[in-house]
Amino acid sequence: MWFHQENPLPESFPHLNCKMHYFIFIKNQLYCEDLKVYDLAKEFGTPLYVYSKKTILDHFFKIKRAFSSIKPIICYSVKANSNLSILKLLVKHGSGLDIVSGGELYRAKIIGCPPKRIVYASVGKTDEEIKDGVKYGILMFNVESLAELEKIDNIANRLRRKVDIGLRINPDIESKTHEYIVTGKKESKFGMDFHTIESVFINRVNYPNLNIVGLHIHIGSQITQAAPFIKAIKKVLNLLKKLEKKSSLKYFNIGGGLGITYDKEKPQTAKDFARRVIPLLKECGLKIILEPGRFIVGNAGILVTKVLYLKDTPKKRFIIVDAGMNDLIRPALYNAYHRIVPLCRNVKLKRKSLKPADIVGPICETSDFLGKDRFIEARENSYLAVLGCGAYGFTMSSNYNSRRRAAEVLVDGKKVYLIRKRESYKDLVDKEINLLNPR
Ligand code: LLP
Repeated sequence: MWFHQENPLPESFPHLNCKMHYFIFIKNQLYCEDLKVYDLAKEFGTPLYVYSKKTILDHFFKIKRAFSSIKPIICYSVKANSNLSILKLLVKHGSGLDIVSGGELYRAKIIGCPPKRIVYASVGKTDEEIKDGVKYGILMFNVESLAELEKIDNIANRLRRKVDIGLRINPDIESKTHEYIVTGKKESKFGMDFHTIESVFINRVNYPNLNIVGLHIHIGSQITQAAPFIKAIKKVLNLLKKLEKKSSLKYFNIGGGLGITYDKEKPQTAKDFARRVIPLLKECGLKIILEPGRFIVGNAGILVTKVLYLKDTPKKRFIIVDAGMNDLIRPALYNAYHRIVPLCRNVKLKRKSLKPADIVGPICETSDFLGKDRFIEARENSYLAVLGCGAYGFTMSSNYNSRRRAAEVLVDGKKVYLIRKRESYKDLVDKEINLLNPR
């Protein structure tokens, strides 16, 4: 048995002056709202995604309240966590949806999201996806290239519809985040530069089946400061001044990207962010759209995993768990930090008496780790929780190594709901065609 003590879990965040989430230790047992996470692990098995409804709604309403003076349309970014129950929860409370594929549109339809609360970005929309969006009557497509403008115009013509679109601008803005999730630099594939955008307005007659109703920016993700947003918004305001009478614009979509606390980050609060950008946004006189993903669900989910083995090598200590990079790819892909805590902690343990260990999964890759050099209390068959997994956790999971995707549960006070069953082995092969042994 080893005992490793991770940094104490911050239960409240003085700089935020509020609770960040409802995963808290009570008498050294981790709870999600009113339920002991250990009991959930026993009941549903592991690996298990556990979400807190209260945390999701708290964050949604934090943004809504912060921006209440301008009443924006909040379109939750489906890619962060696309579970139907979570989408339904947010839509029921007034959220719209930001989608990027036919699959996300399908989810939006299933949960009955009103079409006029859906915005659709993506650099690679297919004909089929565009047709589906047009037929459903979504609020707008956010168009990312001239070629796509032409394509949507053609499809609109064939369907005899006038289609509302927004133009996604690439404002060429530096934002301090992981290079893989920067989207507003001129080197990135997203949006169009200001010259191209101006030329679209000048040549509007070339797109007779489109109404250009919006401008869109999304400069990146996990951005903890307001400064890059402000820079980007100012650039767009300059463009708007130039366009003035030429435009029939109604909406300005400032994207998502608000960062959260994984480790020691002290991101701006929604309130601070709003206080800084609202004066600028008011200047433009357009209806504002926001597309937060991570901010709403990031800290509302954890990944619960069971310790399978403890392994000491001459060089390293490993805690081998039953969740791997197929369940949570963020550490492998971005070297992302996620706090990891035992479900039952022993507060008497002294960190300095412990050795650091890597928490690794069962997958055949060296990048299959959830955390490195952590001081964590672990023994075979005990459980750990990986925190901050509500966004880009399950949605980026895969079946690599023929592993079944995890189950997901949603906690609401004293109640728990299974919102996705654990995949079965049959699910793994269901779509495959076995030529040697046809079924
Ligand atoms: N709007 C657009 C057009 C986006 O592309 C994104 C995210 C969002 C909104 C939501 O951004 P958020 O508020 O969640 O930062 N897999 C990465 C994050 C990729 C974000 C992609 N786009 C990660 O795990 O950190």
